[in-house]
Amino acid sequence: QSTEQAVMYEAHEFVKKYYHHLLVNTEEGKKAFDYLQSRGITKEEIKQFEIGVALNSWDAVTKVLQKRGYPMSIMEKAGLVARSEKDGSYYDRFRDRIIFPIHNHQGKIVAFSGRIMGEGSPKYLNSPESTIFHKGKLFYHFYQAKNAIRKKNRAVLMEGFADVIAAYQAGVTEAIATMGTALTEDQAKILKHTTEQVILCYDSDNAGINATEKAANVLQKEGFTIKVATLPDGLDPDEYVRKFGVDNFQSAIIDASVSLMSFKMQYHRKGKNFQDETVKFQYINEMLQEIKKLPQLIEQDYYVNALAKEFSISADALRSELQQFQNQNQ
Ligand code: GTP
Ligand code: MN
Ligand code: MN
Ligand code: MN
Ligand code: MN
Repeated sequence: QSTEQAVMYEAHEFVKKYYHHLLVNTEEGKKAFDYLQSRGITKEEIKQFEIGVALNSWDAVTKVLQKRGYPMSIMEKAGLVARSEKDGSYYDRFRDRIIFPIHNHQGKIVAFSGRIMGEGSPKYLNSPESTIFHKGKLFYHFYQAKNAIRKKNRAVLMEGFADVIAAYQAGVTEAIATMGTALTEDQAKILKHTTEQVILCYDSDNAGINATEKAANVLQKEGFTIKVATLPDGLDPDEYVRKFGVDNFQSAIIDASVSLMSFKMQYHRKGKNFQDETVKFQYINEMLQEIKKLPQLIEQDYYVNALAKEFSISADALRSELQQFQNQNQ
């Protein structure tokens, strides 16, 4: 760890406290506090997640950092301030936004994500990648969730900050999130040190369903046991909790999660007419492709039998078909 990085960590910790203080103790922070309240986020979550607010100011953070003697060139590299191309002056990167601090897996703050209060673009503004922040190598809230993940021997993976907070309120303390990017191989490898099981709980819109399949492929390569929790009506976990209450989320969504194969079977069969034999055989082939990806032979065998039974085909025929796929891919 270089001196520069040490300064970056320290500045993030300092600025986190500043943003948090503005939110909980000041009149200027009231708008942000009310916004969070309106989304069901109370003082308790504000404390637990160390949420803050960046004021509608071009120099609030810049000034406190300068006053404390932090080198501004390093602050710029850390993404806490930006620099004007015109006159080289520094200004606040985050303005008029709810601030979610992002911890690395050792518990140090390495970045922030700022949400606009209401509609607007970008909805979330993240710190840039830096020598201390690699978005593709950490999970939001992993540091705080690690013990729960160990204890429950599973992680619940979500898309966003608001989702993790809602899950936490619903007692799903093992929830973590990626930050608007696809799950990476690095992230999967890192998570594997703590648990072997992941429940994917992404938004139930089209983007979320596609992301579920992509994430599952990455996790499968690392040998995870994968389950999928599906939400109704295109909702995301946060919206679900606000609509149906904290009491239902654990039992109706998380406990009702199904194996990845069951999810794919349900998903791939949507809107398909099995009276049409072409459609039927295409579906069976799709499922064989999926079965091929399963790490354990007993799992493969189980789903081959299920498929055979459902479509009244001999399991032997399916098995030799599967064998051919496997040979092709060696
Ligand atoms: P809320 O509207 O606050 O509930 O957020 P959300 O988590 O439901 O947002 P959404 O489902 O649209 O996106 C999921 C995640 O993608 C967010 O939590 C962010 O991490 C990320 N994301 C969303 N919008 C943006 C954006 O405009 N810029 C960046 N960099 N990331 C975004
Ligand atoms: Mn902390
Ligand atoms: Mn979404
Ligand atoms: Mn969402
Ligand atoms: Mn949401």
